[in-house]
Amino acid sequence: MGQKKLIKFAAIKAYENVLEFPQNMQGKWAAFFDAIKKSITPIDITKLVISDQTVLSNTTTPLTIELACGRGEYAVGLGRMFPEQHFIGIDLKGNRIWKGASIANKDGLKNVAFVRSQIELTSNYFAKDEVDEIWITFPDPQLRWSKAKKRLTHPKFLRLYQQFLKKEGIVHLKTDSPLLYHFTLKVIEMYGLNLIYKTDHLYAEQKIDPRCLIKTYYEGLDIAQSNKIHYIQFNIDKDLPIELDAILKEAIKDIPMDAGELIRMQAEAARAKKEA
Ligand SMILES: C[S@@+](CC[C@H](N)C(=O)[O-])C[C@H]1O[C@@H](n2cnc3c(N)ncnc32)[C@H](O)[C@@H]1O
Repeated sequence: MGQKKLIKFAAIKAYENVLEFPQNMQGKWAAFFDAIKKSITPIDITKLVISDQTVLSNTTTPLTIELACGRGEYAVGLGRMFPEQHFIGIDLKGNRIWKGASIANKDGLKNVAFVRSQIELTSNYFAKDEVDEIWITFPDPQLRWSKAKKRLTHPKFLRLYQQFLKKEGIVHLKTDSPLLYHFTLKVIEMYGLNLIYKTDHLYAEQKIDPRCLIKTYYEGLDIAQSNKIHYIQFNIDKDLPIELDAILKEAIKDIPMDAGELIRMQAEAARAKKEA
C-alpha cells in the first residue's frame, strides 16, 4: 500500500469526526454532534445519550447521510449550506473519506462527520426514524445485469434504508448512468413508491434545487462522457415485498446500455486494475 494512503488512514484514526465501523451508535448521533460542537476529546461513544423515539420522530435537527460519499462533497457542501443540520458521509475507503473529513476539520464544520463502513452495515448505525434524508451520489452503477442486486437503489438496499429513514424521508439519487436511472425508476414504479421528482438532464432544467449544484469528484470525471446528469427524488413509503424481486430481475433485462455505459465499463475496469 502507498505511503500517502497509510498517512491518510492514520490521520482519520485521530479525527473526532470520523468513526470506523462504530459499535452501538444507534440513536446517539444528536449527542455525538453535541460533543463535537463542544470540542470534547476524545468522544466516548459508550457515554453518549441515546435519543428516545419521540425525540427521533420529531427532531428539530435533521440528519442527512451521503452514501458512497467518496470524498464527501455532499456531506461537506450541505453542511455549509445548512449549518443547523447534521450530515454524515459513509464510504468504505478511508483515503477518500480523509479528504472530506480534513476539509470539515479545517473549516470548523462541526455538523459534518464520516463513517468508514460498508453501506450494507448502515442499519447497525442508525435507530428507527433517526435519518431524514439520504443522498446517493454517483454510485457504481453495477452495469452487469447479474450485479443488479449491488445497485444502491435495489429493493434489497431500500429495505435496509427503511429501517432508519423516516417514512416521509427523502432519497436523492444523482448519477450520470442512464441505466441506473432507468433501473431506479423501474423499482419505484414496480414497488409503488412515491416519486417526487425526476430528470434525465438536470442542468437543462429551468429551475434547479441549489443542493443539486454541488459537484462531486466523480461527476467531474464524467466517465461515461455524457455530460448529462440524472437525478431522482423519492420516498420509501411502502413495504417492498420480497416476492417482487424475481419479477424485477426479469423486468430490468431490457434496460439498454448506451455507448457511454460501455465507455464507463472499460474505464472502470482499467481503474480497478490500476488500484489493485
Ligand atoms: C464512483 S465512487 C463515487 C464517490 C463520490 N460519491 C463521488 O461522486 O465522487 C463510488 C464510491 O462508493 C464506494 N462504495 C462502493 N460500494 C460500497 C459499499 N458497499 N460500501 C461502502 N462504500 C462503497 C466506493 O468506495 C467509492 O468511493
